[in-house]
Amino acid sequence: MDTIILGIESSCDDTSAAVIKNGVLLSNVVSSQAVHEAYGGVVPELASRAHQQNIVPVVHEALKRAGVAKEQLSAVAFTRGPGLMGSLLVGVSFAKGFARSLNIPMIDVNHLQAHVLAHFIKESEEDNNQPKFPFLCLLVSGGNSQIILVKAYNDMEVLGQTIDDAAGEAIDKCSKVMGLGYPGGPIIDKLARQGNPNAFTFSKPHIPDYNYSFSGLKTSFLYSLRDWLKEDPDFIEHHKNDLAASLEATIVNILMDKLRKAAKNLKINEVAVAGGVSANNGLRNSFREHAGKYGWNIYIPKFSFTTDNAAMIAITGYYKYLDNDFCTIDKPAYSRVTI
Ligand code: KG4
Repeated sequence: MDTIILGIESSCDDTSAAVIKNGVLLSNVVSSQAVHEAYGGVVPELASRAHQQNIVPVVHEALKRAGVAKEQLSAVAFTRGPGLMGSLLVGVSFAKGFARSLNIPMIDVNHLQAHVLAHFIKESEEDNNQPKFPFLCLLVSGGNSQIILVKAYNDMEVLGQTIDDAAGEAIDKCSKVMGLGYPGGPIIDKLARQGNPNAFTFSKPHIPDYNYSFSGLKTSFLYSLRDWLKEDPDFIEHHKNDLAASLEATIVNILMDKLRKAAKNLKINEVAVAGGVSANNGLRNSFREHAGKYGWNIYIPKFSFTTDNAAMIAITGYYKYLDNDFCTIDKPAYSRVTI
């Protein structure tokens, strides 16, 4: 019998629904919320309201594109956390009600675990380029920067993580300081392609173990910029590309130094990257260089699976379904948690 999972994601500012049949993706609909652009960041209240408007049409569209009737579904998987509480509540409540109305199991999914398992989304039966266990995954997003040892689909250990800001948060804040748009990541990425990564130097953290820190870099960027602007009020305009390239290079180096250390110490050469910042071209290039230099087998997700999407929720739900790992209706959403 076929196993057909509906995945629902609403942890931040993307409302998404996806359908996976026997591990193969049939549809993945994402509705992003443009409403936050004017505010330079996600406004939680506006995000929950937009989810409320989008959730029914998005689920409807995902089922339609998959050619699946709701009665054919085996289970409904949903992001239970971490994320913005008001946003999560929309997806969690909808998923529970929908599963209950169809009398099928509900599966709670950890959003961070799902980012890692995005590497197992198959777009066809022939798609067999998945990491082999155990592998290392660098999870870098707007809210997290972690090195994870992935031992199995449902067995992950966080080896290290940021002790303050996440990499994406640092990029977004520096971009805001430069007066660029929101979110800063894609803008910095684009500018960096035309800049010199060695033009400017910013401070790098000295943090033990496999942990990260990005708040010092943010401050260093801000203070340096202030000094330069005193001498040349148009400094940003004159050096936009070099600033972006140098900032990106510093962040990529910080991320890769610790990842390389973990790979070497654990003697693992299967290495993946996940999360919104994994869309960054500088980081992707560095992964490719590491593959050549250190013999890593690297796994870089498709752009559409780097940012928040329900396909990763559905695939995580699929593996939990195979393990008979279901959730009960009383399980609440959670805003903070690690893997
Ligand atoms: O995983 P994600 O979509 O959301 C969560 O944080 O859960 O990640 C969003 C982050 C933002 O900080 C955004 O600026 C960053 O990913 N980002 C990028 C790029 N695309 C998105 N950062 C650098 N380069 C990019 N191309």
